[in-house]
Formats: sequence, C-alpha cells, structure tokens
Amino acid sequence: MCGIVGYTGSNPALFPLLQGLERLEYRGYDSAGVALIEDGKIVVEKKVGKIRELIRSLWGKEFRGTVGIGHTRWATHGEVCELNAHPHTDSKGEFAVVHNGIIENYREIKEELQKLGIEYKSNTDTEAIVHLVALNYEGDLLKAVLKTIKKLKGAYAFAVISNRERGRIVAVRYGSPLVVGIGKGENFIASDIPALLPFTRDVIPLEDGEVVDLRPDGVLVYNFDGQLITKEVMHVPWDIISAEKGGFKHFMLKEIFEQPRTLGDTIRGYISRDLKLPFSLKDFRRILIVACGTSYHAGLVGKYWIEKHLGVPVEVAYASEVRYAHIPIGEKDLVIAVSQSGETADTRFSALAMKEKGATLLSIVNVMGSALDRESDYTLYTHAGPEIGVAATKTFTAQLAVLYALALSQGENSSRDMENLLEIPRMVEEVLSAHEKIKDLAIKYANYKNFLYLGRYLSYPVALEGALKLKEISYIHAEGYPAGEMKHGPIALIDEKTPTVVVAPADRVYEKILSNIEEVLARKGKVIGVGFEKDEKLRSLCDAVMEVPQVEEDLTPFLTTVPLQLFAYYIADYLGLDVDQPRNLAKTVTVE
Ligand code: AGP
Repeated sequence: MCGIVGYTGSNPALFPLLQGLERLEYRGYDSAGVALIEDGKIVVEKKVGKIRELIRSLWGKEFRGTVGIGHTRWATHGEVCELNAHPHTDSKGEFAVVHNGIIENYREIKEELQKLGIEYKSNTDTEAIVHLVALNYEGDLLKAVLKTIKKLKGAYAFAVISNRERGRIVAVRYGSPLVVGIGKGENFIASDIPALLPFTRDVIPLEDGEVVDLRPDGVLVYNFDGQLITKEVMHVPWDIISAEKGGFKHFMLKEIFEQPRTLGDTIRGYISRDLKLPFSLKDFRRILIVACGTSYHAGLVGKYWIEKHLGVPVEVAYASEVRYAHIPIGEKDLVIAVSQSGETADTRFSALAMKEKGATLLSIVNVMGSALDRESDYTLYTHAGPEIGVAATKTFTAQLAVLYALALSQGENSSRDMENLLEIPRMVEEVLSAHEKIKDLAIKYANYKNFLYLGRYLSYPVALEGALKLKEISYIHAEGYPAGEMKHGPIALIDEKTPTVVVAPADRVYEKILSNIEEVLARKGKVIGVGFEKDEKLRSLCDAVMEVPQVEEDLTPFLTTVPLQLFAYYIADYLGLDVDQPRNLAKTVTVE
C-alpha cells in the first residue's frame, strides 16, 4: 500500500508531486510528504493526515526544485505520526527515500546500522533503506541502490534522490507496483497510472526485479544485476476526465452512476469479440477462483454461472487463505484470479503459486499493465476505467459482466441470454433513477448500529457485497449471511434494533427466502427487501423494498447490487463520513 511519486525535469517538481499524490491518496492517507532538492540541499516537508494537510502546510512557501519525490502513507510499521511519515532521510540529509511495501528484515539491518553508530530516528522499516543507500554510496546513486537491494528482504517499491546527484531519481520495483511516465524533457514515476495522467499517457510499467534510473532527458531500466533492459512504452487509453469527480459529491457516487456505461462497454466488448480464449473451460478438471474482498464476491457469483452453463466444478477461495494452504492443484486445473487493481498481493501471490504448480492462470483485471495482468497466461479486462473510490462499485458489476460473458460464450448459451445481457445497462439506469427513494430510506436507517444482510443462491454473494459496502464506508457493523443458514445461529441476533436487508428477487429460491423473511418478522425484526418491482408479496412483508426491474434469474445480481451500493453510500454520506477514503483502508492492498 502507500503511494509514491517522483518528478525530474525543468519545471518546479512540487506541483506534479502534489497532483500525483492526490490521485494516489486512495492507496493510503495516514500522512503525506515530499522531498525536493532546493539550492543543493534536500528539503523535506511532511504532515500527518491527508494530502490537503500537506498542501496547507506548504502554503506561502516557495519551492523551485526541479527534482523530487512524494509519498502518501498507509501505516504498516510504526504509528501514524510525522516522524514515521515519508520521505525519510539519512543522517547527513543527503539522501531521501519514499517506500511502498514491507522490508521484512529491517530489524536486523537496523541493529547493524546502530552498531555502526548510525542513529535510527523513526519506527519504520523504510528508514533502513535510506541509511543503506548512504552507506553504499561511492559517487553513483544507481550503484548504491543496486548494492542496497541485495540486502533487502520483502516486497517493496522505493525511490531515492540525493543532493549529490541533481536531476536523478533511482527507483526499484520488487513486489509493489511502480510505473514510469515519459514526458518531454521531464520524466515521472508513480505507484499507479492515474497519478501520471495529468502529465503523460506514455508509460512503462516496471516488472518485479527492475530498477529505473530517471533523469530529465532519459530513462534507463536495469535488472537487479545492473544489466540494461529494453522496455516498451505503452500508451494509456484512459483520458483524464474519467479520473475526475465530474460534478458528483464523491468518486464513489460518480462510479455507481457510471455503471450503465461501464457495463455497456464491458458487455459489448465481450459479446462482439466473443471472448477469444485458446481453450475451453470445459477442458479443465476444475476451476479455482481466487480473489479478495469485493472481487471474491464477484467470484462467488461467477461460480454459480460457470457451474450452471458449463458443468465444470468451481471453487472460490479467499486468496489470503489458499496462499499457504495445501491445495492439490496441477496442470488439469484452471485458476481464475479476479482483481480490480491487479496488484493485490494476496491474489497475485496465491495465483502465481498455483501457476508454478502447473495450473493455467486466467485473470480478470481492470488495470491494464498491472502485475497480475503481466504475470497471467491470459487476461480478460473489465472496461470500467479508473476506480478511485476505495469501495469498489463499478468494477464489481464489470467483473460480473466478464464472468457471465465467459460462462455464456463457452456454454450452451442461447442467443436470448446474450440479448438479455445487453439489456442490463438500461435496467441499471432504471434502478439508479430511484436514487432519491433509496436516499430517504438510507437516512431513515442511518442510526442503526447493526445490520444483517441475507440472500440465497445468486443473491447470497450480493448480500455479502451489500454488507461489505455498508461496513467499509459507514463503519456500521453489517453481517452478510446465506439466508438459509440463519436458523443455524445468526437468528439469535434478530431484534427490533437490528434491521435485516433481504435480497429477494423472484428466482428459484424465492419461496424459501420469503419464509426466511417470516422468520425474521416473527422475532420482531425489521426487513428491508431488495426485489422485483410490483412484487406485492414482498412488499407486504417488508418495512420497505428497494425495487429493480424484473429480469431472468441469472441476471439478478447486476441489478440487486446497485440499490445496496446506493444505500451504503447515502448512509455514510448522511453520517458525514469520508466516503471515498474510509478510515484504515486503502484501495490497493499490496501487503500480505
Ligand atoms: C472493496 O470495496 C474493497 N475495498 C476491497 O475489498 C477490494 O475489493 C479488495 O481489496 C480486492 O482488491 P482488488 O480487486 O484490487 O484485488
């Protein structure tokens, strides 16, 4: 986690650094800082809190330095305070470093440094890097960094500047993302592409085990042995507008409302190109879907679809759980890794471990050029554009679109199924048009402290996703559960103070879930339903119903998800919370 940026050119570096950091704030926002070379000296400015606190503290100060690095932090080692904020400098203040990831052996390095009489100021693992670079420096920053990385264990990306080498940034990627931005007479680095978009769309995504030597007039990439590597420049198709709020109060709201378009793009893309994979899913003994958080919920929905349309057994696993488990897997198996960012450490490393055992790795990612994209045998992209809100919304429904298209394209699909899928963007539009009603309902329920979310069959993952949305942005406890399992324990939670959200479209388990609603009502619980419009039976049982148009059973998750996203959003906004950057979270989780 954390976001890092760097600029070297002929213009003042501060502006691109701050702009880049604002676009990386989704990666962490405990503290932020920049280091610039001003009149031959390294100047560091840092502040606890968000980038705006840093900007406030810089107000009225003049910085002309044309090379600099910046950082936004999601704390892993050391509490959130100015001392632990990045950039960190060596004892003489000649080197500064920003870092993303974890240096696992920093304690040993720290002890060695202390034996050499070097004072270690912070409680971070990062500080070890800068002292090592300073110790290893013999007139060439690149060589000092190459020597330093031989000592480091862990997964990381970092960037270093020195006042002894003006105009130069040396940065490393090993397990955490890093992208180079190519400008005219200026060059950039950043943890993610959106930070580069205001300045350039020509980028070089670095691979693990690569070091970049950045100067205003050139970029050289080396491997860890110091051998020069030839890299291709990629032109990013996204435009900058898609990374702006566009009049919406929050990115999350904008992204929820973008879904008719993002779903349309993803669905049309896959239907017209017919998912050209050089194999059939039916060729495999079984499929294992690995993912985390929201992407895991998409995987759960995908399981039902793939099993129904292809008859291949599918398991869905939390990536962090299978990473160190003894999963029997081999050449006859297909692993599908689902990840918005394509950088989630748990997902990447568990998928890669299975690939090493012989499984074929197919990824569904949103970020083109991300690590998972490059490491997979095959990639299917969700065409959702950059997602800035920490809570995933449009990328979830886009993941569903890819999974459903995958199941249909290789199964005994009828053209009617495809046609129905094409109707989804319009129907999502209809759901969104009822946002004011959902807002009123959200405000009515905003002060409850606990919620249960129930669903069965395809609506079970939707209930999990609805609960996750509520807890991550409103900090209200919400438990997602299979409705049929409720009677085996969680029913004890039901009382008049715990509303239950029940996802109940009229599908194959409709009658069953109505009975589950009765069970809640019998215990004086309040029920908010999510179901088809004009469903009088459901209406008669529920305190309120968030309605969606009637669709084929298979397609219900595309629609029932959307009111739950809005419900969570409006509660969090009503409570005055930071919807786009909820506490303790980061958009891309690059630590295990
Ligand atoms: C969703 O709202 C989350 N913030 C989180 O659960 C996310 O889905 C998870 O970290 C996985 O991320 P990925 O899709 O980028 O791999």
